[in-house]
Order: sequence, then structure tokens, then C-alpha cells
Amino acid sequence: MMTDLVVVGLGHVGLPLAARACAVGMTTAGYDTDGAVVDGLRAGRSHIGDVRDAQLAAMLTAGFRAGRDPAVLGRAGTVVICVPTGLTADGAPDLSAVRAAAADVAAHLRPGTLVVLESTSRPGTTQEVVRPVLERGSGLRAGEDFYLAYSPERIDPGNPSFGLSNTPKVIGGCTPLCAKYATAFYGRLVDTLVVARGTREAEMAKLLENTYRYVNIALVNEIALCCDALGIDVRDVLHCAATKPFGYAPFRPGAGVGGHCIPVDPHHLAASADAAGRPLRLVSAARTVLDRLPRHVTERAAALLTGLGKPVAGAEILLLGAAYKPGSADVRHSPAVPVVRDLRERGARVLYHDPYVPEFTVDGTPVPRAPELPRALADAGLAILLQDHTCYGAPLMARAPCPVLDTLGRFSGPRITQLHRC
Ligand SMILES: NC(=O)c1ccc[n+]([C@@H]2O[C@H](COP(=O)([O-])OP(=O)(O)OC[C@H]3O[C@@H](n4cnc5c(N)ncnc54)[C@H](O)[C@@H]3O)[C@@H](O)[C@H]2O)c1
Repeated sequence: MMTDLVVVGLGHVGLPLAARACAVGMTTAGYDTDGAVVDGLRAGRSHIGDVRDAQLAAMLTAGFRAGRDPAVLGRAGTVVICVPTGLTADGAPDLSAVRAAAADVAAHLRPGTLVVLESTSRPGTTQEVVRPVLERGSGLRAGEDFYLAYSPERIDPGNPSFGLSNTPKVIGGCTPLCAKYATAFYGRLVDTLVVARGTREAEMAKLLENTYRYVNIALVNEIALCCDALGIDVRDVLHCAATKPFGYAPFRPGAGVGGHCIPVDPHHLAASADAAGRPLRLVSAARTVLDRLPRHVTERAAALLTGLGKPVAGAEILLLGAAYKPGSADVRHSPAVPVVRDLRERGARVLYHDPYVPEFTVDGTPVPRAPELPRALADAGLAILLQDHTCYGAPLMARAPCPVLDTLGRFSGPRITQLHRC
């Protein structure tokens, strides 16, 4: 029996896509190489915050099945690839999961199938990496026997206002016919479609969006450090600037950038730009600023403790928020990781509190989780506020019995020191 959609990679991007497809009545299956992910989904346990267990139950009732058998790809009307595109150990773009997924699709590809890549990647990935793997492995021709497109995912996990259906979706086809089939597919899932000239334009648009955030986060942090040096209140500066109704998008300083996208995607773009002999100097300058931020936090923490007559070595330091964004359980590339690493090197005993993150391991060593917030604040020699989770409210922070370093500039109180002072 044919399946309307098979999603390859059931993570933060793939599972919400499968959920939306089920909701509009598409017959949907998922293929993932991770046995734990598949077993969890089959047992009705969602590992993705944006897809609740109740929603997964509705998907399973509608016939959704997750599995590790790539044979399901041979029954697909449309295949959407949502696998990770991280970096190798030496910081280079890693397309191994995209290649592996494309090879699995190729081995089962049938004439008439639409294949879409959603993974974020460098311009040219669809045409130069995915297309040859599909054509060689299947003996079929893109644009003639099967259809191939790129459509970047713009999902913002935890965003209560914008999800898959009401965020405009960019689509680029390998040929006009490929774009037509991809548009017909996404038209059932998404309110607004934007057709790019081709796959490279769609790939580049996604990288521009995330590089824009990367560079602007670096800029606002550098401005904050500059304000410190000039004795200017950066919070007031940001408040004033944000009142401009046009030509200015607000960003906030903090401990750094995190997540699977913003710290990673500019490296994919930079690698392409380098290969083209057109290095992106703004991206490398932003990287220099951002890479330094966690160290700035730990240096301020150490100075704070020293000012109180306490050595950092042996001090108990409580990190508030291990995830990279508010309300999220995602610790990938979180600034909390280098903060832990640096504090450990200084001899501190580091604990964390985060209601969303049950376990947090840095360099193979678990960071102990503080059991209960008020007691943890009472026991700590210093708390460092890293994340804007709602549980860290103003009354609690103002009454904290230990000194607090607030990297977000949110709170004031007798024992609170803001990372950026005025
Ligand atoms: N997370 C986000 O907010 C977000 C937003 C926009 C775009 N993206 C991009 O989407 C892509 C996927 O990101 P994600 O956050 O969903 O990743 P994820 O790690 O949450 O999920 C990826 C899934 O793919 C599976 N997988 C890996 N290799 C596979 C293979 N060869 N075959 C089948 N399954 C395989 C993994 O087991 C995992 O379950 C990345 O390119 C990312 O940059 C992510």
C-alpha cells in the first residue's frame, strides 16, 4: 500500500512535519536510524517538546508508524529528509547523515516520487550532493523520473505563535516541474508558500536567515561590552533603540549562542564562501566575539567571588538554566557547556538547575543536578543565571540568599550583579 509521506529523521524538524501531515489526513510513516527514538515513538512517547504525547497518540491512531526499516521508502509518494547537518570534530560541515539518508532513499526510489531535502546545508547540497546519490543509486533521472526539491525548515521550537502551518515556507525545485510537485505537496500543510528561483537560492535564504541572527547576536554582545567600558547602561540603550518602529530588530546580550542551528549554520555558509574565494569576514568576526562570551561570564564570576573574599577553587557554583533557550530542554551547543568546562578548570564545584533538562553531561562527566531551587540557592557560593526560564522570577531572584551573576540583565537586588554593569 502506498504512503503519502515518509519522513526521514524524526527529530525536532521531522516529527512536527509528520504530525502536521497526519493532521491534514496524509498517510504518514517515519524512518529513523535511532532505535531509541523509534521505540519511544512506537510506545507513544514523544521526545520532542513541540509534539505532545496526546498529539503522538492521535498520529498513531491515524496510522502513523515509525520504523528503522528503509523498505518503507519504496512505498512513499513523497519523501522528506530531515536529518542532522552538524559539524565534524574539526568544525567542518558534516553532510554524512544527508548522504546516508539519500543513499537509503535511492535504494528504494520509484518513478514519480517527490524527494525533498529540509536539512539546513550549504548552497548546492541538493543538486551536487543529494541528486547524484539519488540518480546513481536508483538509475532514475531527477526532473524526469522523480522530482527533487529543497525546502528549508524554519521551525522555532517552543514558539507559541508560529508553527509549521503559519510560517511561510520557501521551496526551490531542481526543475520547474520539481517545484510544481513540491508546491502541491506543501500546499496541503502550509498556508503561504514562497517559490525560490532554484534549490541554491532556497538553501542560501535559510543560511542568510540564521547568519543574520548570528552576526546580530555578536553585534549586540560587542556593543554591551563596549557600553561597559564606556560606563553606559546597555539595557537602557537597548530599550531606547527598540522603540524605533522601522529599520531595527532587537537582539539581547547574554552568555552566547546555542542550539543546533545558529552556532552551526554560519559555518556551512562560511565553508562555501571560503571555497569560492570569497571569505565572509563578518561571520569570522562574529565567531570571535561569540566564542569569547562564555569566558567573559566565568571571568566575571571569578572576580565576583574574589571580591567577596572567596576563592573560585572549591566554590559551589550553581548554573541556572542549562538549555540554550527559554522553555527548552535542548542543550546542544548551549553556552552552559563552555561555562561548566571553564569553571571546572578553575576548580569550582559546578551544579545546575533546569526544570526542562533532566541530565546534563559535559566532556563525559555529568554535572550534578540541584534538587530544589530555593535550597540550591541557599547552598551555593554563587549562582549564575544563564537562561530566561519562567521559573526564575523576580521575587525569587531578589530574595536569593547567595550572590547571583545575571548574564541576561533581567534582575536587580542587593545580591544580584549584572554581567553588563552600567
Ligand atoms: N531544530 C531546529 O530548530 C531546526 C530548525 C530549522 C532547521 N533545522 C535543520 O533541520 C535538520 C534536522 O534538525 P533536527 O533539529 O530535527 O535534528 P534532530 O537531531 O532533532 O533529529 C534528526 C533525526 O534524524 C535521525 N537520523 C540521523 N541520520 C539518519 C539517517 N541517515 N536516516 C534516518 N534518520 C537519521 C536521528 O536519529 C534523529 O532522530 C538539520 O539540518 C537542522 O539544521 C533544525
